[in-house]
Amino acid sequence: MTGFARGRRLRSTPALRRLTAQTRLAPADFVLPVFVKQGIDAPVPISAMPGVVQHTLDSLRKAAHEAAEAGIGGLILFGIPGEKDAVGSQADAADGIVNVALQQLRADLGDELVLMADLCLCEYTDHGHCGVVTPARGGVRGQGGGMVVDNDPTLDRYAAVAVAQAQAGAHLIAPSGMMDGQVAAIRRALDGAAHTETPILAYAAKYASGFYGPFREAAEGAPQFGDRSTYQMDPPNADEALREVAQDIAEGADAVMVKPALPYLDIVARVAGAVHVPVAAYQVSGEYAMVEAAAANGWVDRERAILETLTAIRRAGAGTVLTYWAVEAARLLARA
Ligand code: PBG
Repeated sequence: MTGFARGRRLRSTPALRRLTAQTRLAPADFVLPVFVKQGIDAPVPISAMPGVVQHTLDSLRKAAHEAAEAGIGGLILFGIPGEKDAVGSQADAADGIVNVALQQLRADLGDELVLMADLCLCEYTDHGHCGVVTPARGGVRGQGGGMVVDNDPTLDRYAAVAVAQAQAGAHLIAPSGMMDGQVAAIRRALDGAAHTETPILAYAAKYASGFYGPFREAAEGAPQFGDRSTYQMDPPNADEALREVAQDIAEGADAVMVKPALPYLDIVARVAGAVHVPVAAYQVSGEYAMVEAAAANGWVDRERAILETLTAIRRAGAGTVLTYWAVEAARLLARA
């Protein structure tokens, strides 16, 4: 037979496949989420996320050096304070765990890695919600005893936290609370405190997802009543993601994020096609846990699955991937 296209021609050797690969992974694309907890003297393993720990300040510094050595793009920090309260005071306390960690890492590493600060209150509040809560009013029923997460008072808290994190040494602020107007409030606060050069990576399209399950153990921020579905996006919606992204960019976001990643690749692709700012995707704890669990059972080839998921997320259009495999994937690529 002759005369028809043979897709197989360009697949026949590793060298041909490498030459024609449309998507390439590089360590610099990856950002490693890390957890640092106050009041522990050794790292605490996360049972639902084999290989991931809650760090002490010291073990975090060591992990950060390893991350820099592996050549990844950055770290994103989550803090677990010793004490929680209604407004998450430890999030912006200068001696709060996350701010101390940022200070130390910045002193250790300078500008070698991008130090990102996740900005949210859920790890710091005793009720586990991402903002301050008040009794429902105006015909809204609320959750758990009639309470609601109150948007606008939360913005004042986010503004204070952003300034504290920038002051502590964060190179970039990443608000993940899904309050309306959060990017504008944070931009205004940063500019007002002379942090005009600190960029914002907005968790713009963040869905109310079941795939955050294992993270609740890692960050100890499970809501004590209700859930996050009044502020995070509803999984059936796609157009709304584009609206959220456009609004965040209009408010001053320098880059935008879609989260989770793998179950939302359609959203990643649509966002990447619609905007001209960098697009990141967060491969979340449940995505990590699924592959680890399947691999532990011998049901998938672990390393192959890791690189395939990362490739898929990049192929969909994300330039940056937040992933718990960041350092390992960088090492796998160096070996390949
Ligand atoms: C908190 C936050 C969450 C994650 C990142 N920031 C949890 C949530 O919104 O409930 C999830 C990350 C993961 O699952 O890996 N604002």
